Amino acid sequence: MQELEYEEIQGIILSGYVKKRFAAYSLLRIRSRAGAQSYLRWLEARLTTGDQRPEDVCHNVAITATGLRALGLGEETLATFPRELVEGMAGTAKRSEILGDTGASAPEQWLWGGPGNQVDVLLMVFAHRPDQLDHALQEHRRRQQDGLEEVYFRSTEMLPERREHFGFADGITQPQIKETGRHLTGIECLRAGEFILGYENEYGKVPFSPSVAEDPRANRLLHTNGQNGRRDLGRNGSYLVVRRIRMLLTEWRKLDVAARERVIGRRLDTGAPLGSRNETDPVVLSARDEEGEPLIPENAHVRLASPENNLGARMFRRGYSYDQGWRDDGVRDAGLLFMAWQGDPATGFIPVQRSLADQGDALNRYIRHEGSALFAVPAAREGRYLGQDLIEG
Ligand code: HEM
Repeated sequence: MQELEYEEIQGIILSGYVKKRFAAYSLLRIRSRAGAQSYLRWLEARLTTGDQRPEDVCHNVAITATGLRALGLGEETLATFPRELVEGMAGTAKRSEILGDTGASAPEQWLWGGPGNQVDVLLMVFAHRPDQLDHALQEHRRRQQDGLEEVYFRSTEMLPERREHFGFADGITQPQIKETGRHLTGIECLRAGEFILGYENEYGKVPFSPSVAEDPRANRLLHTNGQNGRRDLGRNGSYLVVRRIRMLLTEWRKLDVAARERVIGRRLDTGAPLGSRNETDPVVLSARDEEGEPLIPENAHVRLASPENNLGARMFRRGYSYDQGWRDDGVRDAGLLFMAWQGDPATGFIPVQRSLADQGDALNRYIRHEGSALFAVPAAREGRYLGQDLIEG
């Protein structure tokens, strides 16, 4: 099995940084190419990679297609990225329809990521203590001054027992990467290529990766990618979907415990799949009660989101709860900053979100999508941000 190149893989792909409870997400728009390039050069030296375990603060970054363009990446290279990334999460009416981004969740209503409201760069900072987070953010803001403006900022704190605002433990079915050798009982182990570019996936294939034509500079910096005349730009990178999902807590509170459990398909107290005893018991979709009714309802969230219902679609999910109190119009403003990492959005987030929309996820009545973007998560190559030498010449 291939060894992971930990020193080039951004740490957040491999770890949820569970000991760093305080996190901040800053969505930025590029105002000046030179200023943004200079900030990313500074940031590159601080990126936390898979081989590091900083005691205090971790820094990670991701860039959308508009961001890559604004930084100067050429169209010929951009065209080698997945279509979903190039077009953007809200890039076509068809995609919005497929993903259920319509009505109250339509991109026109989004706080960011919708038409005319693009985001280019996502900065993620995680800290052990709030003062460390604040200190780090002040430094970032100073460095961003000349090239970037903040579109949206959210600081979050991990809720106790991994619970989200609806009271359920989240992140139970989180796969592990086989190549890390960290195998926990009852946790599914998958090949790195499901999540990280440049490695074999569960089918023994190395998924498509963005590439550039060979030339002396590219040849010096990048590996071959198995295609004639191309060099691999994506290796050790990944793709990240971010969604701001507001949770309709007032409506949710009207449900009794049994109804809440039917919406998700798991027990509130133990986290076990309905009909099972323990949190780590497998979700058996075929299980039925004495009357022959499915134990996990047909429209339960875990059924419709499961790999079994989505041609094996896998992703690392990391939800970060936020709570903004009440909006001016009296509506409760709390929810989940949903994040999903995958090696290919077309076989990861997209089919799952499509199923949740199409097949009528019971959760849909209780949530609103209020912002979204699809990011490339670049490898951390020492001394250079994604394709820096190729962009800057
Ligand atoms: C506010 C919105 C959401 C909430 C409150 C929520 C909550 C949950 C909970 C409580 C679980 C069960 C625990 C676990 O397996 O980790 C779960 C599972 C899951 N959710 Fe969500 N979720 C939300 C949005 C989404 C979205 C947008 C997606 C992807 C498009 C998604 C994909 C999944 C997947 C893949 C699973 C695991 C299914 C399985 O294999 O059993 N969720 N979610």
